[in-house]
Amino acid sequence: MAQTILVLDFGSQYTQVIARRIREQSVYSQVLPHNSSLNAIKAANPVGIILSGGPASVLSKGAPLPHKQIFSLGVPILGICYGLQLMGKLLGGEVKKCERREYGRSELIITKAGKLFNGLPKSLTVWNSHGDAIVKIPKGFQGIACTENSQFSAIEDSKRKFFGLQFHPEVEHSQLGVEVIKNFLFSICKCKADWDMGDFIETSVERIRQQVGSKRVILGLSGGVDSSVAAALIDRAIGKQLTSIFVDNGLLRQNERNEVIKLFNDHIPGKLRVAKAGKLFLTKLKGVSDPERKRKIIGKTFIDVFDKEVKSLGDVDFLAQGTLYPDVIESVPIGGNPAALIKSHHNVGGLPDKMKLKLLEPLRELFKDEVRLLGKKLGLPDNVINRHPFPGPGLGVRVIGDLTNKRLNILRQADAIFIQELRNSGWYAKLWQAFCVFLPIRSVGVMGDERTYENVICLRAVTSSDAMTADWAKLPDALLRKVSSRIINEVKGANRVAYDISSKPPSTIEWE
Ligand code: XMP
Repeated sequence: MAQTILVLDFGSQYTQVIARRIREQSVYSQVLPHNSSLNAIKAANPVGIILSGGPASVLSKGAPLPHKQIFSLGVPILGICYGLQLMGKLLGGEVKKCERREYGRSELIITKAGKLFNGLPKSLTVWNSHGDAIVKIPKGFQGIACTENSQFSAIEDSKRKFFGLQFHPEVEHSQLGVEVIKNFLFSICKCKADWDMGDFIETSVERIRQQVGSKRVILGLSGGVDSSVAAALIDRAIGKQLTSIFVDNGLLRQNERNEVIKLFNDHIPGKLRVAKAGKLFLTKLKGVSDPERKRKIIGKTFIDVFDKEVKSLGDVDFLAQGTLYPDVIESVPIGGNPAALIKSHHNVGGLPDKMKLKLLEPLRELFKDEVRLLGKKLGLPDNVINRHPFPGPGLGVRVIGDLTNKRLNILRQADAIFIQELRNSGWYAKLWQAFCVFLPIRSVGVMGDERTYENVICLRAVTSSDAMTADWAKLPDALLRKVSSRIINEVKGANRVAYDISSKPPSTIEWE
């Protein structure tokens, strides 16, 4: 068993970022709710504990508290933001509301390096977000850093190995924050860096087996990286108890259904059911051009088709989803059951309620790049792991206006050419997403001696790290020229190619 750093979650939107920063150092981290029992905490056998930040105030009635005896376990503890204030309050110091909230960047002046700031410069730019501050530190502690607004921006009790930081070392805007975390892990908790993604597979497999028991699980497979990795992982845990369902909604890219079936046949031994529902979707979408109506119809039809497939399977208890951490609601309201507060996945929103299924989400703690790493460890091929995201409503939101088979086919052919050329030139891997959009307008062209009057294909290629913001990609002229020439020459029905040079915001990545 790898050594564990326990992160007690007080509802910060950064709790999983803390856990991830620890994993990046090859140290296992487990997140537990703030109110976990002493037994649960002891069972994790932590070599160190981190108390996360959180939206509450330690001064308010009903402020979330950890089990008191965590301070008697003899393991090092690091409190971050709310976690620091908790230490202050619970160990005999005093916390007060700040006159001015400290939010954003500030200059941290380190007055004593000690173990936590060992090897760091005397001043750092750090990122804060707090409305309370410690005004009197508990006995045994000393202040080791301050900012203009906080006298005690960092504190330590070197004897008991308790540390507190008012700023957030886990966020990227905190300069050298990772070094502070590394000092806590390696110098204070004496971690050995003995964990990797292979261990994540082992612990997840064990967890899935315990959660599912002998019950059956269904999974909506889209062929994208998240659902494919979830399927491969769950398959490894419970094999035959899992059935994956792939809905062909008729809005897929060229050859996509066959590729998903091949992926399954080659790499995931479990059961796959393919629901061929293209006709049904297109019938329901006939004459609909409003983007939101399209999305609603596609979502509802998906649920109906999926529901029918599941009913034909008999008793099923769990719905597995490839929900990732960024899909999880940003701030977990304290007091509620955090597990119940996830955002429903775009593609299958509404399913669990309707079917009274329990959710199984083994990737909930991971970030996209970690899921890719996990997929690699599970033996999935590179073309699946490095696939661009594809929206649930598929080409339905990439054919602008009415959806017809003719339009979808034009789009499929153009898109396949664009993607092929991006792959050949090595650009595919540098992009967050790239695709074609079918525009329902026609323009005049000339081919040979003939006048043409055909549709426009728009190319979209963006760079991004999380799809929240995105920039249009500066693709080389020669590549754009080749793609344009091939589409106009090879795709009947398109005689003009445009390139989308809009960033997000204010535009979005998809057109609808
Ligand atoms: P926008 O267009 O909002 O998209 O900038 C951001 C990211 O989300 C994807 N997207 C979706 N994914 N179901 C999904 O699974 C959807 O309904 C959906 N709509 C947009 C989009 O492709 C981009 O990566």
